Amino acid sequence: MDVPSAAVVLLAFALLTCLFMSNLSEHQVRLVKSSYAKKYDSIVFPRYVSHPAKVQNSTVQRWGVNLRNLQPHKQVEDLTDAPRDDQCAMALENRFDCARDRALSKTECEDRGCCYAPVPDTGGPPWCFYPRLYSGYKMGPLTPTLRGHAATLVRANPSYLPRDITTLRLEVMEETAGRLHLTLKDPSSQRYEVKLPVGKPRSNGNTQDPLYAIEFQPDPFGFIVRRQSNGRVIMNTTVAPLLFADQYLQLSTTLASSLVSGLGEHYTPLLLDTNWTSLTLWNRDMAPHGNANLYGSHPFYIVQEEDGLAHGVFLLNSNAMEVTLQPTPALTWVTVGGILDLYVFMGPDPQSVVRQYLQVIGYPMMPPYWSLGFHLCRWGYTTTNATRMVAQHMHNANFPLDVQWNDLDYADKRRVFTFDPQRFGDLPEMVEEFHQRGMKYILILDPGISSTSPPGTYPPFDDGLKRDVFIKNATGQTLIGRVWPGQTAFPDFTNLETRRWWEDCIRAFHAKVPVDGLWIDMNEPASFVQGSVEGCPDSDLENPPYTPAEVVGGQLNSGTLCMSAQQRLSTHYNLHNVYGLTEASATHSALVKVRGKRPFVLSRSSFSGIGRFSGVWTGDVRSNWEQLRYSIPAVLQFSLFGVPLVGADICGFEGDTTEELCVRWMQLGAFYPFMRNHNDRLNAPQEPYVFGQQAQEAMRSALNLRYSLLPFLYTLFCHAHTSADTVARPLFMEFPTDPNCQAIDRQFLWGNSLLISPVLEQGAVELSAYLPQGTWYSLHNGQPFYSKGQYLLLPAPLDTINIHVREGHIIPQQEPALTTTASRRNPFVLTVALSSAGWAFGDLFWDDGDSLGTIETGNYCYVIFIAGQSQVVSDPLKLNGALDGLVLGGLRVFGVPSPPRSVLANGEKVWDFTYYTDTKALTVTSLALPMSKVFTVQWTL
Ligand code: NOJ
Repeated sequence: MDVPSAAVVLLAFALLTCLFMSNLSEHQVRLVKSSYAKKYDSIVFPRYVSHPAKVQNSTVQRWGVNLRNLQPHKQVEDLTDAPRDDQCAMALENRFDCARDRALSKTECEDRGCCYAPVPDTGGPPWCFYPRLYSGYKMGPLTPTLRGHAATLVRANPSYLPRDITTLRLEVMEETAGRLHLTLKDPSSQRYEVKLPVGKPRSNGNTQDPLYAIEFQPDPFGFIVRRQSNGRVIMNTTVAPLLFADQYLQLSTTLASSLVSGLGEHYTPLLLDTNWTSLTLWNRDMAPHGNANLYGSHPFYIVQEEDGLAHGVFLLNSNAMEVTLQPTPALTWVTVGGILDLYVFMGPDPQSVVRQYLQVIGYPMMPPYWSLGFHLCRWGYTTTNATRMVAQHMHNANFPLDVQWNDLDYADKRRVFTFDPQRFGDLPEMVEEFHQRGMKYILILDPGISSTSPPGTYPPFDDGLKRDVFIKNATGQTLIGRVWPGQTAFPDFTNLETRRWWEDCIRAFHAKVPVDGLWIDMNEPASFVQGSVEGCPDSDLENPPYTPAEVVGGQLNSGTLCMSAQQRLSTHYNLHNVYGLTEASATHSALVKVRGKRPFVLSRSSFSGIGRFSGVWTGDVRSNWEQLRYSIPAVLQFSLFGVPLVGADICGFEGDTTEELCVRWMQLGAFYPFMRNHNDRLNAPQEPYVFGQQAQEAMRSALNLRYSLLPFLYTLFCHAHTSADTVARPLFMEFPTDPNCQAIDRQFLWGNSLLISPVLEQGAVELSAYLPQGTWYSLHNGQPFYSKGQYLLLPAPLDTINIHVREGHIIPQQEPALTTTASRRNPFVLTVALSSAGWAFGDLFWDDGDSLGTIETGNYCYVIFIAGQSQVVSDPLKLNGALDGLVLGGLRVFGVPSPPRSVLANGEKVWDFTYYTDTKALTVTSLALPMSKVFTVQWTL
């Protein structure tokens, strides 16, 4: 077989990951345990512990401790006695804000011991900033513990904040070679800590040869994390003081470069602006726009280092948070509660950073196959008949449609778990009809439970009250807010009984209306009154000493519940950002139990780890070109956050779309991992069939293209689920050493082999697309482009979206159909993009698409495809019957140097083949080779 061994190794690796993932974690846990056990025997006390006098006498001397090598960190200039001017003399970009909590006069600033030096521009460098040395916590000796090392930090003098925590416990845990974990807590009283539903972080079992080294500055406390291989500083927190008060925690660090991404959810490019910008993480019902906290919170960033390496940092904290980026480059975390629970992921490549992050927060769920099809929704399908007509029009116009949705229209007086007896009286029948046609049905489910129905008429509320499932106000009564149905109570999903009640509600409703998935909206949670219908008490929780500057509405309880509201686990102040996550988890598990099939949940609000339970959409985007363009970084950021099933409302949700915008959005949306067209009530319609013939044709071809690629997309989701690979992938992840890729967010990849270059400008019929070095083939006709790593001007008339296949890859496809139920029975087609050396490989994951735990129980097929200069071979490495009866119907081979004389399939001559001399593409049709058997297609040159 004419295949380089590296390719086979790579493939085998992917395969092994896919096959053995279910056993891996247990095995890994064992490895971690044993390696820890070994480590404790050999721990030597860190060096500075043997110099206690020195530590005590000096406030400035920096001692380094490398936990592994015990190398002292190079001592820095002693500034203890430096005149104050020296202390304040620094480049503007190195100033760290000493007046973040409020504006200070010169005297107030200096009373804090800070430097005051106004600059002309506002919104840039701070006027009041910390001197180079500013007293803070003093670190005691670092001693070994069962999990790593620990030290006590003591603050001798009070900070300027109310309720300092004067003594802190630092724990440092080298969890794996690539993952360092540090926590700072109050040892004397238990503060709120985020408990991710995932439980214990996964480990890769290897703590040998860590990629990091950590050094400490005892007084004032700070630490430096370096990359072991090249000494690069990954974090340096000695640049500004650590603050840890009851409602204000602050930690600053330098960044290894300005190429930072993450810290969602915001309306930003993929690379964040480090020129004095602040990002607020506080889940909010807010249509996407700049400088605002949006629906989700993901306190994780990834930094591209200058040589293509990468690292990431995760602050596991769900309190309201502000992250400031400054041109040093540096970053300051400020959070208003909880603890500092910090993970550093060392990569060394970007994809490994994401994997290491997901080992902590959880790998994404495996979606049902049908959920990768096209979804159509609108607020304003006011009756079952209107809804039926939509699906019928789609069908009549030959547009694929897998899932028909209803928004709030279905619900009786907008109350969830009911349906309107007049307008939606035959909802169960309608759902049944969709099922008969091989389609699925989803409806919206808001968390707010109407509290004003006459007693005995609305069981979700009555039972909920009885079972004590609702969030309480500060004085222990059910907190009442206001959402679509009017006054509502809010389930507390941190309460186990609430999860059971929720499941019961879903079960009872599903018995009448057999929905296939649930769309959980308004779960920030959103409320149309501030705090509650009765307002909120005046307390430090409602009005904390510090509120992140850009919280929309100015107060934490704007557009949501009172901060003093009580949930089982803690106050809403602490739990607000995880409300959507807890609801997604409860809904996911309810659907598993009620339907016994793979669940589909789509959530608006999100927090780190939600990808385990749910997909996410990017909320109420407007129908305009800018929002179309920003949807790409939004989708890519969710990829980094472990939420691969993500998409924006195609054609825009708010405002009227235009035909051209909607065509371009359908083309781009065909490559969102989650593809749904959704529209607001009063807007112009935007279902594909409402447009002119040319526009319809373009949309149809985009939909058919997506449907033809679903086997490939599904396989990518398998890799996301089993190996934490990304599905929609930023170019920098795949080409980390190519500086041209660092900022690209107008194009993206599917996996490592399909490059998507959409039109994002009105009126454009060509676009400049970057092709990384190598050969890229047009997916459309196989035309090759040999790129040195350059921008190319590509034609892009209205009916075209440019998609390129990377050399060396095989893309499994299937003939499209109007539903995935039908397309899954169609013949497969392989697109083989030969490398310049004449090889390619690819893989296919296949199962029934809908059962639970197929990967975990081994109930699936896995086939690899390998191509050499003159043949393609399949190798079904694992079979379970799911591919029985399915055939390979054809082949497209790109990069065949000369016309083949003949083509053989499993040794038999094939007559239906065409060679295109201009593109050097070979097409073979009319095959019927069983997919569940080894096959060979050869061409003689
Ligand atoms: C807000 C959601 O973001 C939107 O998609 C939905 O249509 C409305 N709520 C009405 O349910």
